[in-house]
Amino acid sequence: MLLGVNIDHVATLRNARGGFEPDVIKAALICEGNGATSITTHLREDRRHIKDDDVYKLVSVIKTRLNLEMAMADDIRKIALEIKPHSICLVPEKRQEITTEGGLDVAGQLEKVTNFIRPIIENGTIVSLFIDAENTQVEAAYKSGAQFIELHTGCYSNAFGKDNEEFEFQKLKSAAEFAQNLGLKVNAGHGLNYNNVHRMHEIKGIYELNIGHSIVSKAVFEGLGKAVFEMRELIK
Ligand code: PXP
Repeated sequence: MLLGVNIDHVATLRNARGGFEPDVIKAALICEGNGATSITTHLREDRRHIKDDDVYKLVSVIKTRLNLEMAMADDIRKIALEIKPHSICLVPEKRQEITTEGGLDVAGQLEKVTNFIRPIIENGTIVSLFIDAENTQVEAAYKSGAQFIELHTGCYSNAFGKDNEEFEFQKLKSAAEFAQNLGLKVNAGHGLNYNNVHRMHEIKGIYELNIGHSIVSKAVFEGLGKAVFEMRELIK
């Protein structure tokens, strides 16, 4: 099972000051240098974290694969067609949400999704659809022509350690099996952290996990002591 790292939160921190630090390109290279097999970024319609310029730079600098998360927006598709990332992951997007809240409703808009992704696939980019663990959505994803699905693990992550953990986990497991039987490749992500990630190994054949928030959060504490120490030495 591979690990794709989502670096959006590095951009969130950078944008808090509007400058260049922390540098998202450097962050991507550190992730790659430590075993990340792909870099994920979500170019949101409101550009709240990753900006167009980041995506153009990332695609030319990183050595692994760029996985561009995007909504069904024509201007973002134009960028995807121009930069040809290795893959895109189509996600639903609401401006008011803090993060992607649910999976894309592919079943309810199959024709729209199919038509939206066709030129991207024809352009040589792999398409993944971020969906909830429901067979109707998996089946629609298959019909759309997408090669991958990414199962939304948010419900499992929220349920971890609670009474409904097993229920949410089994939903993921059976949706993954159903998808693989149809010939779809399966990724998973959202809300995975250092406590709950181990159960992903109980699901056969998951290709890659996309994880962001827990990794960036841990990185803050792994680095905070050293950062304070270094500054203290400088001002002594
Ligand atoms: N996969 C998708 C499609 C996402 O939208 C996100 C969040 O941006 C993630 C994975 C990563 O989620 P988290 O930051 O909770 O690890």
